[in-house]
Amino acid sequence: MKTIIANWKANPASFPEARDLFVQEVAGASRHASIKTVICPPFVYLAKLFPLLQSDFSVSTISTGVQDMGEFAEPFTGKISLEAVRHFGARYALVGHSDRRYILGEDDEMINRKLKAALSVGIIPVLLVGEKERDDYREDVLAGQLLKGLTGLDSAEVKKVLVVYEPVWAISTRPDSQPDTPASALAAVNMIKEIISKNWKLDQNDIPVLYGGSVNEHNILNFMERPEIGGAVVGGASLNAEKFEQILALTEMA
Ligand code: PGA
Repeated sequence: MKTIIANWKANPASFPEARDLFVQEVAGASRHASIKTVICPPFVYLAKLFPLLQSDFSVSTISTGVQDMGEFAEPFTGKISLEAVRHFGARYALVGHSDRRYILGEDDEMINRKLKAALSVGIIPVLLVGEKERDDYREDVLAGQLLKGLTGLDSAEVKKVLVVYEPVWAISTRPDSQPDTPASALAAVNMIKEIISKNWKLDQNDIPVLYGGSVNEHNILNFMERPEIGGAVVGGASLNAEKFEQILALTEMA
């Protein structure tokens, strides 16, 4: 079963807009129940959106996630506590998004603490990895981010993590961005599976790896028709409910 994750980032600007988008996307996702859909709105809206998920038309394949979470048990100023994340119904947490790695200065040690914190309260961590520039040596970057990010986890725990190959240069908010080609994304996905299976003695089929970076309704099918690619993280295109539903429909066809 493929997983499509909507990363709204810090959008939209107001709660009424967020509510409309959420209601439309949940209705759309309900029509494509063979796909796991995860909607990650800004945390400030989550408390009010989550109850809408329990409405009549939603199905069990739709969940919500957070775009970040605190990693400490102590109540530090401004941090989002693990209790709050759980209380507001999030089942997934994005960890290590490039905005946070490169703009907000998160390092692999912090990402590792967040992964462990998420697992400790039963939240599925979504670990985003990928090189920053097109000509960075991809294999080294992926191996470094995976080995440090997943350090200290046993194979049963690693199996619970959803890994996303998201090259930073392909993210739509970057100047001159372009999606990766499906063939190159597939090569990276296989590289990730190999690194994890070698280090944690897991079968590659038990390691779901998704793709992210300028995914839209025009290119999703090319990525999703590769069985090795377990789904996608969708940023910009997830802010339009119609486009997002087309992405789900095309994933279902793949
Ligand atoms: P994009 O964003 O789909 O707009 O490229 C993806 C992301 O930042 O997770």
